[in-house]
Amino acid sequence: MQATLTALVAKAQTDLAALPNRPEFEAAKARLVGPNGELTALMKQMGTVPKEQRPAMGKLINETKARIQDLLDAALRRIEAGELQAQLGPAVDPTLPAPGGGPGTYHPLTLVREEMCRILRKVGFTVADGPEVETEYYCFDALNTPADHPARDTQDTFYFPDTAHFGNVSKKTPGEKYLLRTHTSSVQIRTMLKGAPPIRIVSPGRTYRRDTTDATHSANFHQLECLYVDKNVTVRDLKALLDYIFASLLGPDTKTRFRPHYFGYTEPSFEVDLSAKHLPKVRKEWIEIGGCGMVDPQVFAGVGYDPEVWSGYAFGMGLERLAMLLYGIDDIRYFYQNDLRFLQQFA
Ligand code: DAH
Repeated sequence: MQATLTALVAKAQTDLAALPNRPEFEAAKARLVGPNGELTALMKQMGTVPKEQRPAMGKLINETKARIQDLLDAALRRIEAGELQAQLGPAVDPTLPAPGGGPGTYHPLTLVREEMCRILRKVGFTVADGPEVETEYYCFDALNTPADHPARDTQDTFYFPDTAHFGNVSKKTPGEKYLLRTHTSSVQIRTMLKGAPPIRIVSPGRTYRRDTTDATHSANFHQLECLYVDKNVTVRDLKALLDYIFASLLGPDTKTRFRPHYFGYTEPSFEVDLSAKHLPKVRKEWIEIGGCGMVDPQVFAGVGYDPEVWSGYAFGMGLERLAMLLYGIDDIRYFYQNDLRFLQQFA
């Protein structure tokens, strides 16, 4: 019996070490310690062992049982580790550089923004910046859009709670509310309050509206604002500048047209359409691209410029719309999804 038990342990040792998976482990376990297993059968033979040998034999069987249990435990641990390994895949060294790194590329909105700034710098504009968190005064009141004016409704959107505080965003009066700017036109006011005319600035940046996202709307988008203040500025200057920038960006065959409109901060005010038959996204149609006009005397008075002396024009347009026309993109959401298949086309 002793020899049989030793042989059983030796066999179990080799068999269990070679088991490849859980089903085979379960089968091997049943063969050894199951109700019809080899060890179980040997234990049943205890009855045939002479009485005086039983304690020694019992001890031997218990040791064998424990030994086989150890071997089973070890085999199961080995199989479990293998399963986990298969799930995790090959080992990763997180300290290595990510594959496919390489130099990055500019985002299409950055490309259009930089190109527009370059075009405008050539004719004397400098780039001005303004905060994305604004106050009611800079976003609306100073732009001749008082709280009770219907034009304010469409842009009455993302306000901060009264307890919010932004130390780097100056308020005109203490009671003013903070909000996410709905247009870059607020930079006109901040710039004019900072210095004296003549002024010639371009200000690109992020803007926010309560819009539901779809192919042409996004609650967060970008605009480009221009302001020119000097003596004897006319609508002709405004039209000439717009013709120049669109021809430079989109090609010499691009045409622009003005449609009368209302903006509180300009008088007269226009919407600008462009037509570019060479661009597949435009064809011969007129596409609205922005708003513009001659700076309203009220705005000048509010920032302390004498409207009798100074005149100027201003315009604002959406950068996404421009990029979509230029590159033939038909869904605004592509800009924000960070899909490399989209982004790498602008390398
Ligand atoms: N702020 C306007 C908008 O977001 C665009 C605009 C219109 C800007 C007329 C201007 C302007 O500077 O003069 O729709």
